[in-house]
Amino acid sequence: MPAKARTKFRYMALKLLLEHDKVEGIRYYDAYRKHGGYRSVEKALKMTPDEIVEEVKKSGLRGRGGAGFPTGMKWSFLAKPEGVPRHLVCNADESEPGTFKDRYLMEFLPHLLIEGLIVSSFALGSNMTYIYIRGEYAWIVDILEQAIAEAKNNGWLGKNILGTGFDCEIYVHRGAGAYICGEETALIESLEGKRGNPRIKPPFPAIQGVWMRPTVVNNVETLAAVVPIINMGGDEYAKIGVGRSTGSKLMSACGNINKPGVYEIDMNISVEEFIFSDEYCGGIPKGKRLKACIPGGSSVPILPANLLLKTAKGETRLMNYESLSDGGFATGSMMGSGGFEVLDEDQCVVRHTMTLARFYNHESCGQCSPCREGTGWMYKILKNLEYGKGKMSDIDLLWDIQRRIEGNTICPLGDAAAWPVAAAIRHFRDEFEWHVLNPDESQKRNFGLAHYADPIHVPATA
Ligand SMILES: Cc1cc2nc3c(=O)[nH]c(=O)nc-3n(C[C@H](O)[C@H](O)[C@H](O)COP(=O)(O)O)c2cc1C
Ligand code: SF4
Repeated sequence: MPAKARTKFRYMALKLLLEHDKVEGIRYYDAYRKHGGYRSVEKALKMTPDEIVEEVKKSGLRGRGGAGFPTGMKWSFLAKPEGVPRHLVCNADESEPGTFKDRYLMEFLPHLLIEGLIVSSFALGSNMTYIYIRGEYAWIVDILEQAIAEAKNNGWLGKNILGTGFDCEIYVHRGAGAYICGEETALIESLEGKRGNPRIKPPFPAIQGVWMRPTVVNNVETLAAVVPIINMGGDEYAKIGVGRSTGSKLMSACGNINKPGVYEIDMNISVEEFIFSDEYCGGIPKGKRLKACIPGGSSVPILPANLLLKTAKGETRLMNYESLSDGGFATGSMMGSGGFEVLDEDQCVVRHTMTLARFYNHESCGQCSPCREGTGWMYKILKNLEYGKGKMSDIDLLWDIQRRIEGNTICPLGDAAAWPVAAAIRHFRDEFEWHVLNPDESQKRNFGLAHYADPIHVPATA
């Protein structure tokens, strides 16, 4: 792995997934193949499916969709009843605010995903594999379908691939743009043509998934990572990164940074390096101070700057699963889906939390009352606080509501709505109190920002 010295930060150009993303024409088959594309299919189809699963296990790859569950282990749970088809479903719903890495992969390296899907389909025995993509990514559907057609024309998909007897088709299915359809069981319902309501688990998709057949649902980045794992071998892949955070991770970086974008990182780098080095986010615009960060997508706890750069134990916080969650929710956060949003000193945490609460309220499917009602209550209370109409007791009420949602719902959207509110109160209670104590200033300040608010909900006084 090439490494070169930098002034303050250790620079390590790690390119496992994005090695060729800037190559001209890489979106198309000829350029992709010329740069080593589809080698992993040639190699994998000479292995047994179990050997591929073993390599993925050895690699230590963890799902990149949010929960970080070990991929090899998940694959080994797949039921294999005699004569029943199995399915692989690629989760390309990517609707978590602040997360846009899968879009980048699919838009610029569609053949990398197709290659990963073919290898993974062979490993899991899926002859019919689906990409479930969010409706708003309409132009990417065209890119993927063209890549699938090219792969088929060149013998990588269809019947009897490479003369091995393995048949595989990939279909792209467009959702209608609901965040909840990223939850794997809601996705399955939607794929089956129904309303995207999460199912009660168990049974898990590995036993009863699409059309009640054994199914594996994996994230786009997870499936793309199977390509370097097969090419380099699971053991070599596991040497990259640190601890149980092996390989590379794509981060979607946004907010108050000089260089928003998608970055591939070695999970051994520090949060400080990621935010301030020119290689990645390039620091905070206009020399402003770092206030806080949501390191893993909108649902993970927000961290104030002091707990972001160092853990509560005073250790350097690293960009990986273990380090970002060090301290639990009391003083840590999560890697989540890698949506890294930075807030500078001018940002209002109450306002930010209100915006997220509005999102989760809007996206709740409504099946369970703690989520359906609780997300709406939280949004209303936060709106009152933000617009200078809140009471001190609202802060405790908000805390109580989020506590009653967490863990009491069918799917984790309830938790995803509760965690940001809990973390905001935990770390920025003084800011909530400021809004109560300074109602006039709250209103004045927000008058200028009213264009961010849903016009229907802006109070008459604002
Ligand atoms: C509300 C909600 C939305 C989700 N959205 C996505 C998504 O857009 N993409 C994704 O890969 N996983 C999403 N997930 C996680 C999936 O349920 C599932 O865990 C994931 O696709 C598994 O893939 P992985 O093991 O490769 O991470 C979401 C989960 C919840 C609860
Ligand atoms: S937690 Fe929310 S989104 Fe999930 S099933 Fe219940 S109501 Fe629907």
